[in-house]
Amino acid sequence: MRVVSGIQPTGNLHLGNYLGAIRNWVRMQDEMDEANRAQAAAGGSADKQSSECLFFLADLHAISMPFDPKDLTSATLEMTAALVACGIDPSRSILFNQAQVPAHAELQWLLNGTARMGWLGRMTQWKDKAGKNREGQSVALFAYPVLQAADVLLYQATHVPVGEDQKQHLELARDIAQKFNNDFCSEDAPVFTLPDPYIPPEAARIMSLRDGKAKMSKSDPSDMSRINLSDDADTIMKKVKKAKTDPEPLPSEAAGLEGRAEALNLVSIFGALSGESVDAVLSRFGGQGFGAFKPALGELMVESLSPISERFRELKQDRESLDAILARGAAKARERGLPTLDATYKALGLVRG
Ligand code: TYM
Repeated sequence: MRVVSGIQPTGNLHLGNYLGAIRNWVRMQDEMDEANRAQAAAGGSADKQSSECLFFLADLHAISMPFDPKDLTSATLEMTAALVACGIDPSRSILFNQAQVPAHAELQWLLNGTARMGWLGRMTQWKDKAGKNREGQSVALFAYPVLQAADVLLYQATHVPVGEDQKQHLELARDIAQKFNNDFCSEDAPVFTLPDPYIPPEAARIMSLRDGKAKMSKSDPSDMSRINLSDDADTIMKKVKKAKTDPEPLPSEAAGLEGRAEALNLVSIFGALSGESVDAVLSRFGGQGFGAFKPALGELMVESLSPISERFRELKQDRESLDAILARGAAKARERGLPTLDATYKALGLVRG
């Protein structure tokens, strides 16, 4: 089992990132660790090469949209601190940034020969971000999903924990892998493993606090639309109290939330944090208005996030440790990626010294 996933180091880590992806990174890391230990205790060899988690800062992806180079370094280090604060343990998972592992960009180029323009043109993220100004966008924004495919295929990822919005990119990674294997490999020796997305049903898509039809996002100009990991308790309570809702009381069953996107979002967030189903949350709050529900939700958020934000505030001061974590992770990632990169060059008939 190989778990691989990434996050762009742009803006703050928010509740959508945490519930949709990072919390599962941590769970998978812990489960894998336990499985490896059980295997070792049973006398098997804990094969570190085949059972591992790799998590990375997608700093190469971050240059696909306008950005300031001065901010990118500090944003990468801050996001590293945020991931460690959430529970990613650099001694058990490989944590690194793409820019220190040139094989990502190299493999992307090799896969550019397999990816089709039509496939990329159908990506909803490309369509959303480019809008009406496709001609004015960077080539990197268009080719972004090929780099994402390289990110996971390089390590023979089997599981990729992500939020719903990344599903289409991972389907594309599978298509690229499949076409490459068909075009350049014999049937019994494919170069690439087809990765499976792992999307948590309870928090696949956390929505904006200002608009229940838009996803919670780092790029939303309104900070009131999201809960950031770095928000203090007062800010969280204020944002929850100001969250958009409707005047109706909460229903007592999930079916009653149909057509009430904002209410559904808040109840889903509550359930994702408390570990309850939407129905279980509604069995407690059904019949009550948001005046009662919002303070309970705000308190639950503060209780769940404050240990993380405290650790984050400490860790982000320690630039030396963060640099060392990324350097160690990158060294391991370079080693793990090498066999696949070599096999890809070889399959394409490219001569290297
Ligand atoms: P990014 O940086 O936008 O988001 C990181 C992770 O958070 C999830 N996510 C959400 N989940 C639920 N609700 C939300 N509102 C929400 N917003 C974000 C994302 O689905 C993602 O899992 N292209 C990727 C980074 C990337 C990557 C990869 C991911 C680069 N290479 C390879 C997986 C594998 C991105 O921009 O995620």
